[in-house]
Amino acid sequence: MAEFMGKLRRTDYCGTLRADSVGKEVVVMGWVQRRRNLGSLIFVDLRDRSGLLQIVFDDTTSDEVFKKAEAIRSEYVLAVKGVVRERQSKTDKIATGDIEVLADELKILSEADTTPFEILDDTNVNETLRLKYRYLDLRRPTLQRNLKVRYEVTLAARKFFEENGFIEIETPMLGKSTPEGARDYLVPSRVHPGEFYALPQSPQLYKQLLMIAGFDRYFQITKCFRDEDLRANRQPEFTQIDVEMSFVDEVEDVMYPIEGLIKGIFRKTIGLDLGEGHFRTMRYKDAMENYGSDKPDTRFGLKIVNCSDLFASSQFKVFTDALAIKIGPIRGSVRAINAKGLAGNLSRKDLDACVEYAKTLGAKGLCWMTWQKGGEIKSSFAKFLTEEDIANIKTRMNFEEGDTLFFAADKDYVVFNTLGGLRLMLADKFNLVDKNSYDILWVTEFPMFEWSEEENRFMAVHHPFTAPMNEDLELCETAPDKARAKAYDLVINGQEAGGGSIRIHSRDIQKKMFNILGFSDEDIQRKFGFFVDAFNYGAPPHGGLAFGLDRLVMLLCKDDSIRDVIAFPKVQTASCLMSDAPSKVDQKQLDELEISIKE
Ligand code: AMO
Ligand code: AMP
Repeated sequence: MAEFMGKLRRTDYCGTLRADSVGKEVVVMGWVQRRRNLGSLIFVDLRDRSGLLQIVFDDTTSDEVFKKAEAIRSEYVLAVKGVVRERQSKTDKIATGDIEVLADELKILSEADTTPFEILDDTNVNETLRLKYRYLDLRRPTLQRNLKVRYEVTLAARKFFEENGFIEIETPMLGKSTPEGARDYLVPSRVHPGEFYALPQSPQLYKQLLMIAGFDRYFQITKCFRDEDLRANRQPEFTQIDVEMSFVDEVEDVMYPIEGLIKGIFRKTIGLDLGEGHFRTMRYKDAMENYGSDKPDTRFGLKIVNCSDLFASSQFKVFTDALAIKIGPIRGSVRAINAKGLAGNLSRKDLDACVEYAKTLGAKGLCWMTWQKGGEIKSSFAKFLTEEDIANIKTRMNFEEGDTLFFAADKDYVVFNTLGGLRLMLADKFNLVDKNSYDILWVTEFPMFEWSEEENRFMAVHHPFTAPMNEDLELCETAPDKARAKAYDLVINGQEAGGGSIRIHSRDIQKKMFNILGFSDEDIQRKFGFFVDAFNYGAPPHGGLAFGLDRLVMLLCKDDSIRDVIAFPKVQTASCLMSDAPSKVDQKQLDELEISIKE
């Protein structure tokens, strides 16, 4: 180090100097953002993680230093010694805009080839190129800021846990499959050829075992791995802030204390005070019926309204067919949303686009009814509608001049998904959301089970260790689809930021649940025998939850890509464009593992 930097030792970060340092001799180090050579004057914007600083070389600079300065190019790494002085042409574009450093020593610490793209925040360079050269992309101020916020979130979390008696305990990365419902990433064992470890989808089983072990309050900020189809806010490896608490029995026993964690994080990272009271709570049923989603964005209206009864004896077969659906516990319905006051903005072409969009969400179609100001009501299913139908629709939907209605008819879950998705699309298209606000709420009373049409049986909505609500214990056996769980999700701005549940700690109830889910005793022993056995030796009532750290940071940074808050993220195909992972391995490695690749 000394050999390269000579006697230069950094005194200050570039972005931290202000007018009060005028006259001070400083040594700064960083990357060249920009260099302007005006012949007798050379300006360099020097960048480090704290920001930019203007360096000047002028006729008072020694010939030797000036010559070196002439060789400087973008992204060279420099050490500069000089004196801070007031800047002639001040700028408020950068924090150090009142000053500059007049250089009298310069050391080029590292040269740089022309970078594949310029290191600028408002860049339109495509993401593929940026991810290939991620270390350059990470030089951008936004990404530097995002990763700093990420660190601050973990600091604030640790502070909360420390103050509230939680201890952090690490759990294995090489483990047995956990029942989180996604596909596992497997790691072959060399010592046990033909056998595999699974990377954890979450520390779920381990953290429950830690409660049985008596640790009482646990947390861990840890990587989780899920081999699932990637969507915008998902990554194959992501980080959870994972929590478990003992001697809790009601959902509030976990939700209320954990609100302190979220409030602490918001206060310490973005300085936002979320107030004294508890977060709002919405029942799953209400979230689905009004917003078509278990993670409702309630920052805007366009609520879903049930119109099934209005069409009970309709001539329109599309609707009456939907109303007749009965598959296991699944029912059909006709529901609608009112795009209030948007008729003028929705051309015929837009309406067709909405129908097409609905189809991408699983709908077979979508009906609309629109009423331009000063015009007549037009509708895609006009010929099936009576005067009375229209009058009923007006009342039910508060349908007025200037409004457009969208109707979906299908199985309930398809209708919810369609109208819930359409609502979000319209809000985005017409800027109905105040992007500066935070909308935080708990969704509770999730169903215990959902019917799988594919497997023709009930599946656990959360995981098989979630406790049913006390009053619904009976229902688990008599009408499983109606049983509600002691489960909760924290939803922030329409995203699932975290979720968890109170767990079953009684052996009898656990056995019942497994039966309902169709697990044989053999299945149970093979899949999680070590786990259920532990409940024979004194399990305290317990519960917990996990937050997606990446999603939390994304929400705090107001960024809409999860990749922007992860240092080295993966893309949609689960590959890393920089390192080229995953990749083929040497035959020798495969031989050691006794693995052969199918042709
Ligand atoms: P769950 O599966 O709901 O619960 O996950 C908890 C939170 O983790 C985040 N998350 C993800 N973030 C990025 N990419 C992904 N692929 C991804 N998958 C999940 C979400 C989610 O809310 N063991 C339970 C928690 C518990 O019951 O205590 C669990 O893992 O923000
Ligand atoms: P079809 O009978 O399929 O020609 O559909 C007649 C009209 O009803 C079209 O405008 C479709 O977009 C609409 N439609 C079809 N299926 C549905 C549905 N499940 N929900 C709402 N509208 C539908």
